[in-house]
Amino acid sequence: LPGLPAVYADNDEAQTLEIVLEDSATGVEAMLLYGVLPELDIITRSVYVRNQSSEKIYVNKVMSAELDFLYGDYDLLTFYGRHAMERNLQRVPVVHGSQMIGSVRGTSSHQYNPMMILAEKDTTEDHGGCYAMSFVYSGNFQGEVLKDQYNQTRMLLGVQEECFRYPLEAGETFYAPEVILSYTDQGMNRLSQNLHSCIRHHICRGKYKTAIRPVLVNSWEAAYFDFTGETLYNLAKEAKSLGIDMLVLDDGWFGKRDDDNSGLGDWYVNEKKLGETLGGLVKRVNDLGVKFGIWIEPEMVNPKSELFEKHPDWAIHLPNRETYYYRNQLVLDLSNPKVQDYVFSVVDNIMTENPDLAFFKWDCNSPITNVYSPYLKEKQNQLYIDHVRGVYNVFKRVAEKYPHLPIMLCSGGGARCDYEALKYFTEFWCSDNTDPIERLYIQWGFSQFFPAKAMCAHVTSWNKNTSIKFRTDVAMMCKMGFDISLKEMNEDEMKYCQEAVANYKRLKGTILDGDLYRLVSPYDTNHSSVMYVDKAKSKSVLFAYDIHPRFGEKTFPVKLQGLDPNKKYKVQEINLMPGQKSTLVTDGGTFSGDFLMKIGMNVFSTAHARSKVIELTEVH
Ligand code: GLA
Repeated sequence: LPGLPAVYADNDEAQTLEIVLEDSATGVEAMLLYGVLPELDIITRSVYVRNQSSEKIYVNKVMSAELDFLYGDYDLLTFYGRHAMERNLQRVPVVHGSQMIGSVRGTSSHQYNPMMILAEKDTTEDHGGCYAMSFVYSGNFQGEVLKDQYNQTRMLLGVQEECFRYPLEAGETFYAPEVILSYTDQGMNRLSQNLHSCIRHHICRGKYKTAIRPVLVNSWEAAYFDFTGETLYNLAKEAKSLGIDMLVLDDGWFGKRDDDNSGLGDWYVNEKKLGETLGGLVKRVNDLGVKFGIWIEPEMVNPKSELFEKHPDWAIHLPNRETYYYRNQLVLDLSNPKVQDYVFSVVDNIMTENPDLAFFKWDCNSPITNVYSPYLKEKQNQLYIDHVRGVYNVFKRVAEKYPHLPIMLCSGGGARCDYEALKYFTEFWCSDNTDPIERLYIQWGFSQFFPAKAMCAHVTSWNKNTSIKFRTDVAMMCKMGFDISLKEMNEDEMKYCQEAVANYKRLKGTILDGDLYRLVSPYDTNHSSVMYVDKAKSKSVLFAYDIHPRFGEKTFPVKLQGLDPNKKYKVQEINLMPGQKSTLVTDGGTFSGDFLMKIGMNVFSTAHARSKVIELTEVH
């Protein structure tokens, strides 16, 4: 799709069906594109509108996919949220009338994810029919489910109608982004596995599609804006002793940026604050055997910056009206090609001056506010579309010039997490909320659509009522990292983390690329459990968490899934604190997959915020 991302596949993996609809009165055409990936139970759908008439037309509404269910009674699952509380699962019956989700914030948003599931009433994680729709797009969207007077259900996903009126001159075409569809009769786990496979093999690109990703420590929660080169060097040194591969220098290293009031736009190194050049610091850290990554937020500008002084018309904001600031900043107008060049040059200059940088964290902390593009002038109804096209143009140029640069995408946590983004970025910062209890819910929501390898989860000092072990065990079920001053840990905790990092590195393949099974929901019980199984069904990792069990609660065994019933597996609890003995009755034993899936294991306790990580290995 020109200018838009889409699922890709080899000729022998997929076919495309094109259906042309013509409006005989005007000659305007709508082309429906269906891509079929039979192995994965995935169908993609997109549409483009061709103005074959002789006059200018306006596209006022365009839905990329529609499904009609002529009978059946369904539940709708959507994922709502807010800053630091992303992807809460909501399951409600489909009722007569319309149920709608969407974003008008310029990005896919914290508030809703551009994803919906329609499930039969008795569908659970491991059985029943369910249909998914997911938009491959990072801008405004609209999802709707309607039930009519004959109890027929219609499900739609596409471009947000609000502030959308796209002009098409005679002969021009409007391309709507793609929707990924999937169906299974085997429950939501299977639906997620279909979508995860589609992302891993048909959206992710480049080296990090398969390469093992580094374990990193990020400076944000360890130092916020308050650091020198020495602080960072020491963090890298401590990280090295834990087996961490990379240090990421977060916000505050450039311009006049000691808090979030100023500096965005002035991407030159604050050497006075660092006490050295960036190149010098990168080299010192690299000499420790630790790679170096850096934070940027190039799509934004603070009014207190040299960039804004020079180019006030590069920022989206209304003329002659008081400006509203979200985190003291404005969004740059990426519908303007000059601004696209500038944003690309931010990355390009940093990389040219510091070719040893091995990673970027790309942030986007404000939605579009004060909606007016000084560049588009009287064509404001194109802003939301042309801005996102501009954003994609920049992402594409960065990916083409730096194909081996892994980049984490952040947007005040998880405000721009969608399939599109995974074409250019290796992973998401899912949420600024790193309380491990909250993360169990946030990661549960994310996992419905995203594979573990796309979800960053860091060990931090949020919720110190929970142990380092619990915080680490929660982070380990995704792409684990650290965001904590390691000085906060005592000797036992450091030893525990060293071992956990080593275990994680050993098991990363299974966790990040294995099949996910959500076994026990934190929404339904006082516990939670998920497991990952590798493709050969010879290695599996089970995570079990006690959240807030009630007094005297009777615990229940967890039945595993996805194993081979005829294989034998050795069960071993890992990630134990120094001196801690496993309380798992099955620890050290060998059991058949059949036993583990039919009888299960007692992995829960009645203690608050306790966790277990259990490795299962096939024995011959
Ligand atoms: C956002 C991100 C954080 C951090 C800060 C820096 O809030 O989500 O992880 O990078 O910005 O200002």
